[in-house]
Amino acid sequence: CGIVGYVGSEKITNSVLIDGLKSLEYRGYDSAGVATLQETGVRITKTRGKVASLEDKLQRHQIPSSTLGIAHTRWATHGIPSKTNAHPHHHGAVTLVHNGIVENYAALKEELIQVGYVFDSETDSEIASAYIDYMYRQHHNKLDALVAANKAFKGSFAFGIIFCDDEDTLYAMRRNSPLIVALKDGASFIASDVPAILKYTKQYILLGQDEIAVLNKDTQHIYNLNKEEMDHEVLTATMDAADIQKGGFEHFMLKEIHEEPRAVRDTMAAYIKDDIQDLVKNLPDLSKYNEIHIVSCGSAMYAGMIAKSLIETKARVKVDVEIASEYRYKDPILSKDTLVLLVSQSGETADTLAALLLAKEQGIDTFAIVNVVGSSIAREAKYVAYTLAGPEIAVATTKAYCTQVALLSLIALNLAYIHNRITQKEIDQIIEEIHCLPDILNELLKDEQYITAGKIISRHSNVFFLGRGLDYALSMEGSLKLKEISYIHSEAYAAGELKHGTISLIEKGTPVIAICTDERLFEKTISNIKEVKARGANVILFVREGLNVSEDYYDYKIEIPKVDMMLQGIVTVVPLQLLSYQVANLRGCEIDQPRNLAKSVTVE
Ligand code: G6P
Repeated sequence: CGIVGYVGSEKITNSVLIDGLKSLEYRGYDSAGVATLQETGVRITKTRGKVASLEDKLQRHQIPSSTLGIAHTRWATHGIPSKTNAHPHHHGAVTLVHNGIVENYAALKEELIQVGYVFDSETDSEIASAYIDYMYRQHHNKLDALVAANKAFKGSFAFGIIFCDDEDTLYAMRRNSPLIVALKDGASFIASDVPAILKYTKQYILLGQDEIAVLNKDTQHIYNLNKEEMDHEVLTATMDAADIQKGGFEHFMLKEIHEEPRAVRDTMAAYIKDDIQDLVKNLPDLSKYNEIHIVSCGSAMYAGMIAKSLIETKARVKVDVEIASEYRYKDPILSKDTLVLLVSQSGETADTLAALLLAKEQGIDTFAIVNVVGSSIAREAKYVAYTLAGPEIAVATTKAYCTQVALLSLIALNLAYIHNRITQKEIDQIIEEIHCLPDILNELLKDEQYITAGKIISRHSNVFFLGRGLDYALSMEGSLKLKEISYIHSEAYAAGELKHGTISLIEKGTPVIAICTDERLFEKTISNIKEVKARGANVILFVREGLNVSEDYYDYKIEIPKVDMMLQGIVTVVPLQLLSYQVANLRGCEIDQPRNLAKSVTVE
């Protein structure tokens, strides 16, 4: 979910809040709402669906702008996406927007019903608004009420709050969900993320854990739960307003795919120039770990699978790849020789953060690969290495994933080097290819074959991806990308495994996307391709150049440039992303904001 809040001398809430919400829509777009304090009291406007419908409603109902307001774009957790469940929520003197989950809401609800509160929605957030109101009635002081509520709430939250009897002040409070605070020329802002304030200022602070912000048009006070005032370092955003525009592309996703050559170059150049010693210097010393747990969610986890394949084959260090939401509850077996490696674009994914904290509590070393500087995962980890993808707006990740693969490939190279598993000649060759990668990626972007391949797939409702080894890891991401943006059901299989059951789903014309870049496994994958071809599959083959396959075994072929296996994942993923994009485009899907998804999932 995304939060924006404004208090200032100018009556501009509607434009600040709507623009802000639009830039945060990647965090959820099931429903949206805004509350402004007017002379007549608090005015709340909510709609189902996207921010554009909210904007339209504000205009149709001629809701005037004011000097104080909060707004929210929601990704439904408690309760269906409906107008009732949309934020802001209001009880008594309190109106709020909320990101996160108040886990003990059921117990608090019971307590509140006993004292006469009645509830409309199914959300924990409505309970939170009533509870703060209840505390305000008892303490007669807003800061005391917020401290008391903070102590009573279990779980995660970022709140933007207005009190109907205080037209000058915007309140905010957070735990485990991000919230930034900014001040500029007679106005204070709060937001879930930097894009929402970029139009006004690049300077902001990160509200700390369990802190309460009391914001006026020209003053900002931040308190801890002992009501002591806290100081904060002022940060400067590295992104520009242009980074959050489409820049002439039809979709953010296409723009971000086209930024991959730059993103990969920047990320790799930050860690290695011409010498392997650069990596030794720029990465933490990983020589003492004999086991690595890579823990993450979604595409970041599939980037982890590529890393596992590379680290195990090239450096001979044991790697487990774990889904963060499973890892956090499985009581993982950890030892002092284990490194827990978290991979996350946003640095805010709740399950990944929880896995990190679990390892940290047990005294295990943690290392985070993160794209967003200063995010929670980056701050909590012992070591952090950033990907330099820049801001990613499309919900389906492309350039951030690509840079995760790039950085993880460098980590694999570093491990291969420190474990003496690679020759200087091989290292020199890889470094030379690293310098060529941006050009290779740029060439791939010019290719139009994906449009033809996209046409083959777009009419189908079931697709299979096949690959072995590294190509299996790539298949997982290729398949996820396709299903998340085109809504075509797709499954990725280790090529040799399909025959153990799922091959029963292959019938005449079923599209099978086979990925074949690993020379060592090439013949084996071809055998599996023959198996599906014999059963009528329509095979689209992504094959590394130089690997010859008879025309009998595929229907359409896309050649992937040859690079060292250590870098092959970075190159192969680009065509897979372009293919998914083309399919979704042909099907007329909402590419940048696929249904039911959110980019940054800050709840469990
Ligand atoms: C969400 C996104 C995915 C992403 C995953 C992990 O589900 O829709 O695209 O891979 O979260 O996000 P992270 O920010 O931790 O990389």
